[in-house]
Amino acid sequence: MGTNEGQPLQGMVDLTEPELARWRWFERHAQDVLGRYQVAEIRTPLLERAALFEHAVGEGTDVVQKEMYRLTDRGGRELALRPEGTAGVMRHLAGRGPEAEQARLYYLGPMFRAERPQAGRRRQFHQLGVELLGAPRPRADAECLALQWALLEKLNLPQLEFQINTRGAPADQPRVAAGYRAALEPRQGDLCADCRRRLATNVLRVLDCKQPGCQALGADLPPVVELLGAESQAYFEAVQQGLTALGVPYRVAPKLVRGLDYYAHTVWEVTAGGLGAQNALSGGGRYRIRVGARDLEGVGFAIGLERLLAAWEEAGGERPAPRPPALWLAALSPEAESEQLALAVRLRRVGLSCGLDLRGRSLKAQLRAANQAAARWVLVRGPDELADGTYVLKDLRTGEQSVLDEVGWLAHQRALTAREIV
Ligand code: HAM
Repeated sequence: MGTNEGQPLQGMVDLTEPELARWRWFERHAQDVLGRYQVAEIRTPLLERAALFEHAVGEGTDVVQKEMYRLTDRGGRELALRPEGTAGVMRHLAGRGPEAEQARLYYLGPMFRAERPQAGRRRQFHQLGVELLGAPRPRADAECLALQWALLEKLNLPQLEFQINTRGAPADQPRVAAGYRAALEPRQGDLCADCRRRLATNVLRVLDCKQPGCQALGADLPPVVELLGAESQAYFEAVQQGLTALGVPYRVAPKLVRGLDYYAHTVWEVTAGGLGAQNALSGGGRYRIRVGARDLEGVGFAIGLERLLAAWEEAGGERPAPRPPALWLAALSPEAESEQLALAVRLRRVGLSCGLDLRGRSLKAQLRAANQAAARWVLVRGPDELADGTYVLKDLRTGEQSVLDEVGWLAHQRALTAREIV
């Protein structure tokens, strides 16, 4: 085995307990909230045609240009591991009837981006995403943000902040780009090489550039909303009124534009404290995406689960302890081990969680394993107990040990099942 073969790929991790217990808690909480908002689940493939993302997310975006894992399959097809979930959901909906235009869907699963790994940035990460289809209506955007607030508020994250902005109706966007281009062109020399290219292809991206020179120029640009027409401005105003009415706290971030091309009107990011540089735990907005001949409109967001859970942990969020087994079964001979295994399978069928060690180890080693699993009760059986039909029950909490007959054992089992004793 080579030196790296026991390691996952760079930027990818194996998720294990007890971290997974927190994932499951959040997933259950999310399913509960999403159910109340009447949002149904969808699971789309991890692999899609590369062209789907080029068209939906945008050829000039960093996600497509620099971060997408591309591969060619044996039939010569250009494929990509999905870098985000919105495009796949739109591909699905584009093939459905008119009801697709009112769909309310969520997804939870891995996404892939070939970025430079660092704290909070991985090459395989997970998103919980929501897509609420429908034509632009400020109230729909406000509902979507209220749903996201409902998902997050229970976690009590420090410095949780919703930053919202607008990119204006699609018809206004050329005007914004032209305004920014006119402001930046005379100062091209101060832009980084990437941003000089972006000037022609995707000028809004200059606002996201991390180079100090570009940031300084970006700070001098007018807020997006000032370059928009009256209708787009009124739309953004109405979204803010909606948020206030629904009690969703927010702050306007006048230069927030987001890195994906499909957005129009409202865009937002959610940040929290304790996450360092990668403090965006979610991003979203209203979009219009063309798949084939069909334009689909909606509003949605995706929460980065790794970042969310890191923020939660940072905030001292509960770390659900693994549930201890109701009973540990120890055996003193190979025959007793078979009997105990059969008993464990029966007990698990009726709902009890049981642990046992099938390695034929000493009683001492088996009791140590029971202790490590935090089991309270250990049922011990060996040749003597099998011969006279008895059960030795040990209470690890008190150290007490009793010998039960069949009736006594059944009574104890009933109490365990009814959770009268734990
Ligand atoms: P996004 O802003 O590219 O939006 O990603 C959403 C979230 O995914 C980010 O805020 C972050 O928490 C997480 N994330 C992104 N890249 C990484 C990474 N390399 N490592 C760890 N976490 C990461 C979207 O993907 C849009 N599809 C959201 C959307 C849905 N807009 C409308 N509907």
